[in-house]
Amino acid sequence: MAHRGASARVPENTIAAFQAAVEEGADVVELDVRLTEDAIPVVFHDPDVTSTTDGTGYVHQLTLAEVKRLDASPGERERHEVPTLAEALEAIRGVGVNLEIKNLPGEPDFDSPREATLEAAVGILREVRFDGPVLVSSFNWLTIERARELAPEIRTGFLTIAPIDPWAALVYVRSRGHDFVLPQSPALLGAGADFVREARSEGVRVGTWVVDDADTLSMLYSWGIDAVATNDPRLAVSVRDAQ
Ligand code: G3P
Ligand code: MG
Repeated sequence: MAHRGASARVPENTIAAFQAAVEEGADVVELDVRLTEDAIPVVFHDPDVTSTTDGTGYVHQLTLAEVKRLDASPGERERHEVPTLAEALEAIRGVGVNLEIKNLPGEPDFDSPREATLEAAVGILREVRFDGPVLVSSFNWLTIERARELAPEIRTGFLTIAPIDPWAALVYVRSRGHDFVLPQSPALLGAGADFVREARSEGVRVGTWVVDDADTLSMLYSWGIDAVATNDPRLAVSVRDAQ
């Protein structure tokens, strides 16, 4: 699963990063979704645009036209636009997508339980008739619970950061019928192969993020993990195929 596209080599969350991920053999592209002021879902990681573009301001306070004027790869020779979700989905036809819906308490665009970003993203998936596998993931359980109501055909995954015990996340995921438990890699590595075995025996799939080194990738694949988000899909594919 290519984390923000092939982001080790190409500016993250851009069409070029997604195309490179597909070329490098990724099965799934992970991308982050936020809403512009005029309610268009765009692919962007941070709530504000300062650290990865040449502009300033919060995504949710910029119109799509303003977001489109930003350079998402400042300092690089080639300019890259911030893609809309619709543009990103067109670029990755043929592989799967992991839509990470950003809606985090403490961030200025947080809107649970309204879930406007999720609703708009599901609308776009339907509008463009995306026909690859889809996972909707979030650190926010309200978001993925709303996804199950809104689009029961779409798989959902619960992301957790390293301090959260993966076993507790698994209890939650099982109780709400989500498809994936997605602990950050240090937590999953601590929980070990037994965690992957146990989750899978209960019908829950396991993914983790973000792993870019060959030895760890190799160990995770030997545990039978279902998905690994990596910035370097070329490396991950070669390690997986050598197993
Ligand atoms: O897919 C998991 C990962 O993308 C979550 O963290 O901050 O890279 O979006 P972040
Ligand atoms: Mg993400």
